[in-house]
Amino acid sequence: MRAASAHPSGVLGNLPAPDVRVGPGADPSWWRQAVVYQIYPRSFADSNGDGVGDLPGITSRVDYLSRLGVDAVWLSPFYPSALADGGYDVDDYRAVDPTLGTLDDFDDLVGGLHGAGIRLVVDIVPNHTSNRHEWFREALRSAPGSSARDRYVFRTGSGIAGEQPPSDWQSLFGGPAWEPVGDGEWYLHLFAPEQPDLNWANAEVRADFLQTLRFWSDRGVDGFRVDVAHGLAKELADPMPSQRELDTGVLVDGAHPWEDRDEVHDIYREWRTVFDEYDPPRTAVAEAWVPTHRRTRYASPDGLGQAFNFDLLKAGWNAEDFHSVIEENLELAAPTSASTTWVFSNHDVVRHASRFALPDGTDLVQWLLHGGLDPAPDAELGMRRARAVTLLALALPGSTYLYQGEELGLPEVADLPTWSLQDPTWVRSAGKEKGRDGCRVPLPWTVEGPSFGFGEGASHLPQPSWFASYAVAAQLADPDSTLALYTRALQLRRALQTAETLTWVDSGSDVVAFRRPNGWCSITNFGATPIPVPPGKLLVVSDRLPDADTLPPNVTAWLRQTSGRSESEENQ
Ligand code: NOJ
Repeated sequence: MRAASAHPSGVLGNLPAPDVRVGPGADPSWWRQAVVYQIYPRSFADSNGDGVGDLPGITSRVDYLSRLGVDAVWLSPFYPSALADGGYDVDDYRAVDPTLGTLDDFDDLVGGLHGAGIRLVVDIVPNHTSNRHEWFREALRSAPGSSARDRYVFRTGSGIAGEQPPSDWQSLFGGPAWEPVGDGEWYLHLFAPEQPDLNWANAEVRADFLQTLRFWSDRGVDGFRVDVAHGLAKELADPMPSQRELDTGVLVDGAHPWEDRDEVHDIYREWRTVFDEYDPPRTAVAEAWVPTHRRTRYASPDGLGQAFNFDLLKAGWNAEDFHSVIEENLELAAPTSASTTWVFSNHDVVRHASRFALPDGTDLVQWLLHGGLDPAPDAELGMRRARAVTLLALALPGSTYLYQGEELGLPEVADLPTWSLQDPTWVRSAGKEKGRDGCRVPLPWTVEGPSFGFGEGASHLPQPSWFASYAVAAQLADPDSTLALYTRALQLRRALQTAETLTWVDSGSDVVAFRRPNGWCSITNFGATPIPVPPGKLLVVSDRLPDADTLPPNVTAWLRQTSGRSESEENQ
């Protein structure tokens, strides 16, 4: 049997060491092929035993991140928040939630990460504030038509006395998207009522966000992940379209009242001028839920520069889907000079070790409602496939976004008791959708102890007993663990990756295989029967091989195939 991990020495030859400097003078294109590790701060590491993860907790784990080999951390919101939506309801954009620490703790985190050569990307939430933000409090105290109300999207209600909402729009978390304030006006909230939408046609809103971008950039932040990037620009002229018209997509590109409007790019052009004030320029990645062909505009170099590609979140387990998603996204990235991104898991979706354990097309909302039992997941298959697709994605040009815990192969906690649920979706959908808490359960660091080493007390979402077997401590001791696989893959990737080119290798309809510079080759068997391992030196495999020449189903292998050409020639 060939082990899942062989040692890199000897197979990589004398490749030049990658440039991992951060700060002024550092490589401005560091983000193009970076591995970015998402931290959901309340569920990563709890330093003070209050059950909630915090910034000092993250700082205390910088060694772990460094050993894992990530290039950057994306930190989900850490701002003061009442947690109506996991921190995406921000009270103050230039402060740290006291439960998570202080600005000094933030500076320590930046220092710790930068000291280890790891960049920091912070989440920014410009579509809405929280209802506790001082602007919104002022808007509520102020009269209709006031400048305080103009920072938000207030409209007069319909009906004789404004007692009906201005339109029948539904919020994305369920229930009406309008909330009355008692004087005939209603405010728009595309998400929870505690998340009033900002009016981006208001000059003060625009100017204030530029200050926020500078505030964090001055503190050393390297980039921003832009929440709901497609939603900021709004055109709510009467008569507003009905929800049915919005749902059926009768509105052509750019005509939707709040989704993906052309004016949104004016905002990002302003932001770009701020990003470019810094050395190296600050980066940004758009969370833009728009059709694939419209995504590139968010990734344009005079805008945010990069946009999430969520296509692999929907790809089924078959080579054709993967091949076409990869090809399309590489083609789309090329003309904008952006690099594409690859994502299998994040804080909003069912963890991919569980998704791939279920038949393609499973309704995940129903599956969660049934406590993860119907259909029954094939956990072993899910793990094999999750490891295989991750190894595949890590060989692709572009940046890969990892979500905390996926390096442990953590499955979704699908049977969280309903009393513990925090996601507003649960209440807003009247119990029809359980929401996203199952992927936000605090990480297990040790096999024993209260909250498995997450902290010294119970964790804010309950961890199941089976978390013990996924603990970091258990995996560090196991050379075949998922953690060992990720660590090795990231180490190899960093050493091997140069030009952002890919050459497809035709290996049959059930196989995805391609070559990168430096003789780096990745091959994944999506089929039901074993295939031969191509020639070359085996660098890493996502699972054990039955023998040196056979790649079983559901496995990816990386090889180094050296041609007669020198490494420097290949890198041209
Ligand atoms: C997208 C974020 O990823 C999600 O967690 C949040 O609920 C919505 N935006 C609203 O901010």
